[in-house]
Amino acid sequence: MVSNVCCLMLILFIAAVGSSVSATGSTSNDGKKVFDVRSYGARGDGKTVNTMAFTKAWKDACGWIGYARVYVPFGTFYLGAVTFTGPCKSRISFIIKGTLLAPKDPNSIKQDTWIIFRYVDYLTVSGGGILDGQGSYSWTLNDCRKSHNCRALPMNMGFQFVKFSRLRRIKSINSKMGHFNFFAAQHFTISRVTITAPGDSPNTDGIKIGLSNHMKIHDVDIGTGDDCIAILSGNTDLEIFNVRCGPGHGISVGSLGRYTNEKSVQGIIVRDSIFNGTSDGVRIKTWASSGPRNVVSNFRYNNLQMINVGNPINIDQQYCPNPPCYSKVASQVHIQDVKFNNIWGTSTNKVAVKLRCSNTFPCKDVELVDINLVHSGPDGPATALCEHVIGWARGKMSPASCIR
Ligand SMILES: *[C@@H]1O[C@H](CO)[C@@H](O)[C@H](O)[C@H]1NC(C)=O
Repeated sequence: MVSNVCCLMLILFIAAVGSSVSATGSTSNDGKKVFDVRSYGARGDGKTVNTMAFTKAWKDACGWIGYARVYVPFGTFYLGAVTFTGPCKSRISFIIKGTLLAPKDPNSIKQDTWIIFRYVDYLTVSGGGILDGQGSYSWTLNDCRKSHNCRALPMNMGFQFVKFSRLRRIKSINSKMGHFNFFAAQHFTISRVTITAPGDSPNTDGIKIGLSNHMKIHDVDIGTGDDCIAILSGNTDLEIFNVRCGPGHGISVGSLGRYTNEKSVQGIIVRDSIFNGTSDGVRIKTWASSGPRNVVSNFRYNNLQMINVGNPINIDQQYCPNPPCYSKVASQVHIQDVKFNNIWGTSTNKVAVKLRCSNTFPCKDVELVDINLVHSGPDGPATALCEHVIGWARGKMSPASCIR
């Protein structure tokens, strides 16, 4: 009798262990391994150059068969330019608890981005830690507001050819130029990320995305000196929600239409977000230039609050950041199937809705639904401006729609 109870207990115990292992999703408990950068000589004293230690920790973790986890503990880890390259043997996490500190001198970073992940799948970067770009030491070197061929300073963190991955619970502060840069990423989720730089810091885009698809960005808080999110050439299927943006230049598509190797941008949802004190809310910008005839289509902007925003709704097909711009041709980019639904709040400019499209290729299927944007000032109430727009408006419409 006693031995039967004992055996039954043993069976139940084995069953419990078995189910808990499968519940965690790992193949076996000893498949997991932590690669602590300290065991490779890294020190979180704010001075030691940890580049080599981080590179070695990554290399071992990336080659590990099982679930590898690179671990950066609390402390301030001074780090030079690094590229963490895959493909890795298994899925891999990069956990940052402490602060990674960039070199003050941009010349010591001989790549476009301070920290790069490249050719990695099933990557998680997380941990609640901070990326400190120390940009305040180099912002004065930035002359992009005066010159087209200005010097590019390194961005904080980049993901290139990274798939089925995520970035979560990371804070980026004071990048030299952009904070996070995504190029050729697929099936990537960015969540609970905080981005901070002064509103007047030059070209400090929050999240830049190019040539990527199936990306989700949600629950992010971005205050910076340029676009909160910049959606560049070649993106499809992006979903963006629960964003707080400000200060900054809003959520932008483009600029497009200037370079021959550009691609179309299709399938963008921006919803349930707040823009506070930004120069723009949602914006699409293309150059009046003989660039490629790409399409910008299938965009949905839903439930967006604007608080003291310069241009809450802004399609500008004569984008010219450094006037004067001379062009004999109108923009060749075709904008179509763009819907603005339930956009409300305050505009600091009188023109709260600006739809300036190309006179060669008018915007088509533009829909305004339930717009309530208020401007108060000596120049009178908010207005809407349309150039070469084909579409319709319905629901509450303030300012009155200019789409005929
Ligand atoms: C908007 O920004 C101002 C100034 O930073 C701040 O005081 C206010 O609480 C913000 N409003 C919302 C709704 O986030």
